[in-house]
Amino acid sequence: MSVASLGYANLDVADMPAWLRFAGDIFGLQAKPREDGAVDLKMDEYHHRFSLYPAATNRLRSIGWEVATPEGLLALVEKLKAAGHKVTEGSAELKAERRVRDLWRFHEPHLGLETELFYGPSACNIPLNPGRPITGYNTGKLGLGHIVFSAADPRAAVAFYIDMLGFRVSDYIIWEDKDATFLHCNARHHTLAIMNEFGPLKGGDLNHIMLEARDFNDVGYAYDLVRDAGYPIMLEMGKHSNDHMQSFYVHTPSGFAFEYGFGGRTIDDDWQVRTYDQPMLFGHRQPKSAGQELPA
Ligand SMILES: [Fe+2]
Repeated sequence: MSVASLGYANLDVADMPAWLRFAGDIFGLQAKPREDGAVDLKMDEYHHRFSLYPAATNRLRSIGWEVATPEGLLALVEKLKAAGHKVTEGSAELKAERRVRDLWRFHEPHLGLETELFYGPSACNIPLNPGRPITGYNTGKLGLGHIVFSAADPRAAVAFYIDMLGFRVSDYIIWEDKDATFLHCNARHHTLAIMNEFGPLKGGDLNHIMLEARDFNDVGYAYDLVRDAGYPIMLEMGKHSNDHMQSFYVHTPSGFAFEYGFGGRTIDDDWQVRTYDQPMLFGHRQPKSAGQELPA
């Protein structure tokens, strides 16, 4: 039994206006303000994929893994309980807030992540009304996108997601001082990646969330927009060695990055695990290299 996809992410944000500008102007996400001061962000047919909560400090409040069926959800809950994890049913209020049919929650101990498992999200037939003109996002059975964390003990964290939530290894990339394991739970090349601690990133820190456009032009227009508006770029446009995603990375107002990608390849039935020695085929340079003159 496996989770089906990354369903949603809930963020405490210290600067709501900055987040709404960023999400709407750059990524075209549709803001849906709630009466409690939080703002839901819609990106596809789901009621929302992100909820932003006004807060004193930025933090990832929780994430939601979608399970395809009610039977599958309860089977995962029982498996976690049998392994000694404290799993509790979400309140009726929380289920309504998340717009899901059923929801259970637990504290994932390796990344320290408040984790929700759900099925039956509210789908909406009203088309996306994007914050800027975009073609839209490649979601559906592939889920929201992918999410990448550092872990204090990456081996233990990877084992948890494989043994408890049913992920499978896609591949590994080991380069410089970094060691990353890429994991899939559907045809998306990876929905979760777990890295070692490096630079300022400690165990449990969120590195980035990837949103995949349906059209490369959506990414290209956004690349111009972030540079024109002066948003801090984490990695310039490039193409990844493992999932072939063509993307760039921009820091969100919370500090972690959004990767805006297109053209990621999918996992097929005869997938074979590889180990790569660099994350990019080309590009994905840190901005300090921007504008460097060609060698004479
Ligand atoms: Fe990524």
